[in-house]
Order: sequence, then structure tokens, then C-alpha cells
Amino acid sequence: MHLNLAWAITGAGHYLVESYDAFRQLAGNDTQIRVTIFASQSAEEVLRMYGLFDGLATIANGDYLEELFLEREQGRSSPKVGRFLLEKYDALFVTPATSNTVAKIVHGIADSLPTNAVAQAVKGGVPVYIVPVDIEGTIRSKMPYTIDREICARHDCETCVPAETCPQRAIDAQIDLLRCNGCGECAPRCPYGAIRGGYAEIRVRDVDIRNTAELGVMDGITVLRHPEAVLSAISEL
Ligand SMILES: Cc1cc2nc3c(=O)[nH]c(=O)nc-3n(C[C@H](O)[C@H](O)[C@H](O)COP(=O)(O)O)c2cc1C
Repeated sequence: MHLNLAWAITGAGHYLVESYDAFRQLAGNDTQIRVTIFASQSAEEVLRMYGLFDGLATIANGDYLEELFLEREQGRSSPKVGRFLLEKYDALFVTPATSNTVAKIVHGIADSLPTNAVAQAVKGGVPVYIVPVDIEGTIRSKMPYTIDREICARHDCETCVPAETCPQRAIDAQIDLLRCNGCGECAPRCPYGAIRGGYAEIRVRDVDIRNTAELGVMDGITVLRHPEAVLSAISEL
């Protein structure tokens, strides 16, 4: 199967690993599938926090139609999304899609790399598939590494081994999440278990439930409920 796919990533921690795994599987299994990545600025940050950023090179190696486009480097008008009007792509997948990005799309806003990609894809007749993170109820979401400062205060260590040995130099009383790359080496090095990367229960807001429902009836857009559904959607292209 010869396909050129566009994958837009937004700054959601929820479904990020699952989205990454789906595209890793595609790129690994089928050399006929080329993937161009469009990452919002928040996506770039969150991908780094979850330790996934460097792995994107195994999905998009930099060749033509296999590039990684970062919003930070693309300017406000993101000219690369003009490709959606030039019949370069067979489909655009937005996964995971933050509540912010979904809200923008349903209101016709196109001021970020992923939302601009969606707008141009729909205008160019390219099918768009979106995996919103906020669908209904509550979601259990993986959080980045953080330090429990109360545990630190109880022990007041002379030397903080995790801070001294952090390869990113991201720890200075707190973890600087814009430097952290999610490697997790710090957590077992704290003898008091003050560093954790746990899960949180997050309640989906009414406004996001309404926006996701609205997204589902938009022309040219199909809502998928999980990143795994990307694989079956591609097999039907
Ligand atoms: C670690 C981390 C995880 C996040 N996870 C989510 C998430 O699961 N869903 C969401 O809607 N926003 C999440 N956000 C907030 C978004 O990144 C933020 O709203 C951002 O402005 C979205 O921009 P974008 O939609 O252009 O990517 C997260 C932020 C951080 C720092």
C-alpha cells in the first residue's frame, strides 16, 4: 500500500504514547507508507516531557514527505500546510487532539500548525481523522515527573543525587519540565521516593463534550475514539 500520511500532534499527554505507538507501528511495518509530522509548539514540549521527542526521527526521517515540521519553526502562516491543497497527502490524522485544538477546529480557527493543517486539508478534499482526548466522563492521564516538595522538606538532603545526576540539568528544587526529557532516571535515585511520574483522574468538561460532538458532524472530519483506530482507518483508505 503506497500512502502519504500527515500526522498532526497537539500538546496532550493523554493518548500521546498510544498515538506514537500507532505511527511507530505503521512506519516500521510498511515501507510504502510515508509520514509527515506537524507538531504544535505545545506538542513539542509535551513530547519532550514524555521522552518521546527524539523517537519521532524513526517515524519521519527527514526525507521529502517524511519531514518533522515544528510550529515553533514554521511561522504564523505555516506555508507547509499548503501541501494539503496540492494533493500530496492521502489523509491527515490529528492524534492526540487537545481540547484546545478541538475547540479551535469547531469554531473554524486555524492559527496553529495542527488547526491550520485541518483547515487546509478540508479545503483540499483530504480526509481528516481526529482523536480527541476529551470525549466524556473522566480520563486517567499519565503525568510528567514532579517532585513532592513536602517529602524534600522533611529530609533536607545535603546533596540531591537526582539533581546532581540529571542528564538534562532539569532539577533545581523543582523539575523544569521544559528541560526534562522524561527519561525517569531521577525517580529511583531519590532515597525517599520524592520524585514521581504518576497518573491523574481528569474530569472532562461540558464544553469539551459539546465540542467533540460538534466535531463529529463536521464536513470532511471523522472522529476516532482511540489512537489504535488510526490503523483500521488507514487500511480503509
Ligand atoms: C504535561 C502536559 C500534559 C497535557 N495534557 C493535556 C491533555 O491531555 N489534554 C489537553 O487538552 N491539554 C493538555 N495539556 C495542555 C495543552 O498542552 C495546552 O492547552 C496547549 O495550549 C495546547 O495547545 P495545542 O492544542 O496547540 O497543542 C497538557 C499540558 C502539559 C504541560
